[in-house]
Amino acid sequence: MRRRSLALVAAAVGLAAAGCRPSAARRHAGTPADPWVIGMSQCNLGEPWRVQMDADVKAAADAHPELKLIFKDAQNNSLTQRAQVEELVEQGADLIIISPKEAAPLTKPVAEAYQRGIPVIVLDRAVQGDQYTTFIGADNVKIGREAGRWVRETLGGKGNVVELKGLMTSTPGQDRHTGFLEGLQLDSNPGLRIVFTGEMQWLEPNARREMESALATHPRIDVVFAHNDPGAHGAYLAARAVGRETSMKFVGIDALPHEGQQYVAQGILDATFLYPTGGPEAIATALDILHGRPAPKQIVLGTRLFTRDNVAAGGQPIH
Ligand code: FRU
Repeated sequence: MRRRSLALVAAAVGLAAAGCRPSAARRHAGTPADPWVIGMSQCNLGEPWRVQMDADVKAAADAHPELKLIFKDAQNNSLTQRAQVEELVEQGADLIIISPKEAAPLTKPVAEAYQRGIPVIVLDRAVQGDQYTTFIGADNVKIGREAGRWVRETLGGKGNVVELKGLMTSTPGQDRHTGFLEGLQLDSNPGLRIVFTGEMQWLEPNARREMESALATHPRIDVVFAHNDPGAHGAYLAARAVGRETSMKFVGIDALPHEGQQYVAQGILDATFLYPTGGPEAIATALDILHGRPAPKQIVLGTRLFTRDNVAAGGQPIH
């Protein structure tokens, strides 16, 4: 009885020290013989950017024999991803990294793992509320705003714009759209108009289809802004199929070296903004947490703008 109440006091002190974050004993020792297990829940591996994120996480963790990774691929299904997070908890993960497909359905499993004392790092797309350890990602409102500004300035405040949005139940879709409208400043630029908006859910074939509708209904389109590079590329292919690709500009986001940056170098896209995967930062933060060092609630990653003029030189940072 006495030992139990002492344990309870110790647990309470532990909670206070961790800023009220529930903490559980790690399930592994964090040695090469008994490494800490990090569960990595990826929402899908159908898109090159996500393959890169997993590769970045793996490369960073490979330098640490005291870490072992378990990767899960939810194949773009929020229910599958929810089950996989629960599985990682049952499989004895010491820490979970999740890049959630959608905010609402993944909020509860993340909160439950966190409440059980398993630290959770949320990467790139957010969940709702604050029941996780650390969020790491770029500022999507800012990137959207910079894209809007680029469009406004490139068009001299006048022209017809198409916006192809990502999945609007994911936070980057919502934030990029909000930022884009801010950057366009439509109120003070009456000649600038969004003539068509479509939701392509981050997927190139959907973007191509949406763009076909835009092309069919709008004889003049000056710029297409897609929330990611696959979307911008899909729009370009649709325009090229009807011989209109040289009459408009294409802007995307992600800027992977072998995808968006290459499209810019090839003259397919006119601009793309870097969306870092956060893989190295996730592993560095995981190590801090597992070692009991303090970790911030939020880590904001930077971006860069790539255009034809600067792509060979590695783009230009945006402050
Ligand atoms: C990949 C992706 C990226 C995009 C990110 C937003 O799934 O669509 O292209 O920048 O997700 O979360």
